[in-house]
Order: sequence, then structure tokens, then C-alpha cells
Amino acid sequence: MFELASGLPSEPQLRLIAQVLHTGGQAWVYWPAEETIERVDNERWLSLRRHVKAVKWMKRIGLPIDRAVTTWHRAPTGLRWIYRGEFPVRRSDILVKLTLLTLRAQPVPLDRPACGGDVLRLAGVGLYLRTDYWATGRDDERMSRVVAELAAISERVVCLTPRHDRLLDGMGVQQVVMDPPRLTAGEDAIVLAPTHYGPIVKAACQTLRPAFLYERICAGQSVGAELSQVLGIPYIVEYPGSDVMLREAIDGMAPFYPELYARAEELALRQATIIVAGSSNLEEHVTARGVDAARVLVVPGEAGLGVQLRTFVEGQAGATRHANSIETGDSYKDQIQRQWNRNPVGSQHAGTSQPRTLEWFLEVERHRYRVYAPWMPETMEFAHHAGHEVLEIGGGLGTDLAQFAMHGATVTDVDLAAGHLQLAEENFRLRGLRGRFVHDDAESLPFTDNSFDLVYSNGVLHHTPHTARVVREIHRVLRPGGRAIVMVYAEHSWHYWRKLVWLFGVKEGMLERMSMGEIMSRSVERSANEARPLVKAYTKSGAQALFQAFDRVEIVQRQLLAEELPSGLQWTLPLSERMLGWNLIVKATKPGDGRKASDVRN
Ligand SMILES: C[S@@+](CC[C@H](N)C(=O)[O-])C[C@H]1O[C@@H](n2cnc3c(N)ncnc32)[C@H](O)[C@@H]1O
Repeated sequence: MFELASGLPSEPQLRLIAQVLHTGGQAWVYWPAEETIERVDNERWLSLRRHVKAVKWMKRIGLPIDRAVTTWHRAPTGLRWIYRGEFPVRRSDILVKLTLLTLRAQPVPLDRPACGGDVLRLAGVGLYLRTDYWATGRDDERMSRVVAELAAISERVVCLTPRHDRLLDGMGVQQVVMDPPRLTAGEDAIVLAPTHYGPIVKAACQTLRPAFLYERICAGQSVGAELSQVLGIPYIVEYPGSDVMLREAIDGMAPFYPELYARAEELALRQATIIVAGSSNLEEHVTARGVDAARVLVVPGEAGLGVQLRTFVEGQAGATRHANSIETGDSYKDQIQRQWNRNPVGSQHAGTSQPRTLEWFLEVERHRYRVYAPWMPETMEFAHHAGHEVLEIGGGLGTDLAQFAMHGATVTDVDLAAGHLQLAEENFRLRGLRGRFVHDDAESLPFTDNSFDLVYSNGVLHHTPHTARVVREIHRVLRPGGRAIVMVYAEHSWHYWRKLVWLFGVKEGMLERMSMGEIMSRSVERSANEARPLVKAYTKSGAQALFQAFDRVEIVQRQLLAEELPSGLQWTLPLSERMLGWNLIVKATKPGDGRKASDVRN
């Protein structure tokens, strides 16, 4: 067993592992910080060697070039700043920063209230924060009522605000007014405001060491969430809704930086210990985006907010408001349920429609087949299985399964996440489709041998710990001549090497501290809670080996978006997608002459 000091073995360790394997021995690698052990066979050794070599060159050549290019690109900005005193927005810098903070987001728990005088109070100082300098001139009545509620349940409250508020005077709270940013006109000023407020709020937090930070979030602002993460301060977010935030900041105009506003909001929601929503509508919007309902407190109006917050904090430790879980005795499978009971896959693309309505499901579908993966309907053969018995493993919201059903297949979905299964059932009911929905584990399918003509699975097998077991189960339940169409993530892909290895692993230094498995677990799936699902990536030969009991195994590679490629290379998209796409689609046939399945058109 080789204990690794970073995400990858050292070169001497690699050589020793090779010797062990050559002499017919067995080798394991062990990441102590992750408490993870992995067996290394020849295929895995080759993969580790590829990573070690590539990372070495990325550090030797890639990093210095990247630094030079960044400096070169920053030069005009710096010069403009020196000569004009004007700091233009670098949209990509802000986006990268917000993306990384969002990846690392982790709510910080609040201490239980303690007895202070005659009432239960949140111990220590509560810091109330606002950075919406654009709302100047009006005393905000809601703000003063919220602050009064916080003061009633806290030892002391300090307000950090961008303007003096008369209503806060005489309330027994300390008000600290922050100087306005130098630039306050237009949207550039909004997205740059965190660089101005960040150091001020940080200094206040380091001096006061607040027990919690309460922020009424507003468009493009990320200071509260960032400091909560960096300084480990519990963070309570008052969420007025995206539309309201935009209306307040830019007065109903079409936003110039929509992706920055969306990312800042996502960061705040992911980092929040508690999200205070003014209505159950807002709560639904937040949970539909994958936020754990156990972190959302609905308080219509502000009366009683303090007491409800206190009770919520008391109850939060024991709160387990989520769908039924299956006891699997396997921590990886617990993570699967934790992830997909609460984070409906693809729901972030549902725009503004009411969650769980037909329009919501259709919006998810439109984004999937028109924007994200237009190749899917043809490659996944949705229209080619009329009259067949189709099983989908891990159907998510049921979007793909609905396509098979609409084209005349008899369909079954088996999913470990009860939350997903309920949504898929709801999707079918709203579309007037029929299907069977089974809550179970694909590693031991609850179906008799030879019962399906097609087993389909998209983005599932790389999350389950015993992938080979699932493939054996697929083989067992397929009729002779029946087909499997299974998508897993591709190691030899642009997404893997550019984003996961280069950007997160090398540039951000994550590989110094953690394995590629941990980087994927933290970054590949969108998760607004603490879930860290297992994620694996396969080479074509690895995928081929998994399906060795099948005949006619064909593997196609897809899934690359033009915007992922540098602009000068976008014309190569059709070819690049086939060589470097993030998805490997394995199509395989169970040996034998199935009567029904044999007439499948490819
Ligand atoms: C990333 S989602 C993919 C959902 C859907 N196929 C799609 O493409 O949108 C992974 C799904 O696989 C399910 N899953 C993972 N491991 C499973 C297992 N061992 N048995 C059944 N379902 C599983 C999860 O619950 C989740 O619904």
C-alpha cells in the first residue's frame, strides 16, 4: 500500500508500483486526508502515469506560459488604471473567482442558542450586512424591523451599511457606515463593488469575530458568502428572489452581466447556513435549484423572524427533511441519495417557470436537447424502440425516458434517489405518459432475468461504487439479443484535462491536496448541499473491458460545447466533440437471438 502525500503518486512511487505489478503482486494507493484506498491494476497504473507526466509538463511549461499571458492581458488594464484612474471590469476573472468559491462552498453551522439573561440568545455579536449602495436615500423600514428582530435574540448587533439609516438610531444597535465605492454608476460598479467592500467587511469581521453574519443579498454581491467561507462565519441569507434583486439594482433593464449575478446568487445560496425566504414560492424556487430544504426558513413579513430563527437554529442540527432513503450500508450510495434527493439534475436550466409544473419539465427538456446535448435524440435512439420493454437506470427527472415512452416503448425507471424518482413520476403524470417507477439499487436490480429489450442509462454508472456489478445486472435482465446504451464520463476528454486537471488540479493547486477523484466529486455535479457523490471517468478501453460479456460493443464520444473551446478552435467542434467529448456512449448487444430485440434499428 502506497500512502500518497498529494493527489498523485510521486515518480519513485510509480516505479515501485510498476515493480509490484510486474512480479504479480497487488498494489493499492491510499489518500489519508480522504480516507480513500484504491487498487491499482495495469490500466489504472497507466492512467496514473499519464496524470503524473501531464501534470509535470503542465507545471513546467503550462504555468509559466499562463502567468506570462495573464500578465500580458492585464497590462492594458493596469495602464488604463494608472493613466485614467479607471478599472475596467474583467468579467472572466470575476466569474472564475465566483466559480471557485461556489465549488468550495460549505455552510458553517451555527452554535445552539444559550441562556442569556431570561431568554435564549445566539451568543456573541451578530453582524447585519448590506452592500447595496444603489438603494441610497431611503430609510429602509424592513431593514430596521429585521435588525430589531435580530437584536432580540442576539447578545449584540452591529450593522454594516452603505448609508446611514435614521431608523437604526436609538435601537441599541451599533451602525457602521461604509464609504461608498469610488465608482457607483452603472453595472460595472455593481459587479466591482465586492472588491471595495471586501476589505472593509473583512476587517470588521476580524475585529468583532461575529457569531453570525446576516446579509440581505443583492445583485452581484459576494462579500458575505466569501467571508463566511474564508473566516468560517455562519451565514444567514435573506433571499428576496432574483427578479427583485435585479429590479432593485438595474431598474428592470436587461442585465449586462447576467452570469455574474446568477453566480453570486448561487454562491450565497450554497454557502448559507440558513436562507430566510419571504414566501413558500421563494422557498420552492430555492429548493428547485437544489438547495436543501432543511436550510430554508420561510418567514412571511419580518414579525417573529427572531424567534423563528432561534427555533430553526435549535432544530437544524436534528433536521432531516428529505425524501425516503434506502439503507445500503455504503457511504458512496448515501452520498448518491443525499445528492439527488435534493439536487434535481438539470433543474438550474428551468428558467423562471414554477417548479414541478409541466412548463418547468419542458424547459429542462428544451435546454437538454436544444442547447446542452443536441446529439442525444439520435445517438441515444429515442425513436427506435417502439414496442420494446425499456429499462432506464437512474432516470433523473425522467426526461430521456419520456422520449422512449412518447415513441411507443413500455418504460421502467429504477433510481436510488427517491427525490428524483418522484420528480420523474410527476413528469410522466403531467405529460399523460405511462411508466413504472422503482425505488432500488441498480447493483442488484429487482427484475427477473431476460426481461428487457433495452437497458438505457445516462450519467449514472460512474457514480455507483461497483460499476461492474451494474453491468452484470444489465446483462442479466436483458433478453438475448437485447441492447445496452450506457453513457459514462470520458477521461480522454477536453473537459477532464482542461478543466479538472489543468484548471482545478494544477492552476488552482487542488492536486497538491487531493486526488482527482476528490476534485471530480467536489466539482462535476452541481450540489447546493454538502453532498460529495463519487465520480469516475473511463477510457474507451476501460469502458470496453466493462462490457466484455457483450457482443458488438461500439463506443462513441460526444458532448462538447463550442464555448468550451478557445474561440480560434471552435470551427473544429464536430471533430473535437467526437475525439474529446465528455461522454462515452457504449452500445452493446447481449449475445443470443432475441425475438423482439433483434429488430432494433441502429
Ligand atoms: C447525474 S444523475 C443522471 C440522471 C439522468 N440519467 C440524466 O441524465 O439526467 C444520476 C442518477 O443516477 C442515480 N443512481 C446513481 N447510482 C445509482 C444506483 N446504484 N442505482 C440506481 N440509481 C442510481 C442517481 O440517484 C441519479 O438519479
